[in-house]
Amino acid sequence: MTQDEMKKNAAWAALEYVPRHTIVGVGTGSTVNHFIDALASIKSEIKGAVSSSVQSTEKMRALGIEVLDLNDVASFSVYVDGADEINAAKQMIKGGGAALTREKIVAAVADKFICIVDSSKQVEILGQFPLPVEVIPMARNYVARELTKLGGRPVWREAVITDNGNIILDVFDLKITDPITLEQQINQITGVVTNGIFASRAANLVLVGSADGTLVLK
Ligand code: 5RP
Repeated sequence: MTQDEMKKNAAWAALEYVPRHTIVGVGTGSTVNHFIDALASIKSEIKGAVSSSVQSTEKMRALGIEVLDLNDVASFSVYVDGADEINAAKQMIKGGGAALTREKIVAAVADKFICIVDSSKQVEILGQFPLPVEVIPMARNYVARELTKLGGRPVWREAVITDNGNIILDVFDLKITDPITLEQQINQITGVVTNGIFASRAANLVLVGSADGTLVLK
């Protein structure tokens, strides 16, 4: 079974956890693209979706799923998204697709975060995957120097401008043993919009797609 088929297994398994007749929060990425296909199959049974990126919005609209403005939605129960890494405490690194800020905002509003991953994303310690940090463009070099002081090796993802008009620094060589503290420390650097550690708001449920089916971690 390919990695993409495992992602697809996890994504379709998430349908079971989507309460009907409510609004659904939708993440970004190749795993979520499978989830959007799955969501389209029950589109008449949901009130619409809140999106975390232009990419997901376009895909949902193309499939006839109504996309609502988060400012018009006070609450909703479930946010479904992928991750680049996830540990046993359900803390994640996200932002490989540069959508981390909107993902964190939509996740903050949701009652529950359901993370859909293939088994390759499970790790003991976060940090093997370079940590994405969204930065206001004029602060790029200042933020890079501050990230270096924290022990990381920031690399500018040059070809990318985020949906919010900002840039991404990918921070290599971090061994993230205390994700909550590092998430807060990096967010304190002036010029950082947010970073891809999702620890203060970890996932509530993880669906891990593997060759043997989908494992549910509660
Ligand atoms: C995008 C993300 C994605 O959830 C993460 O990169 C995983 O992507 P994929 O499902 O393509 O492996 O955080 O910003």
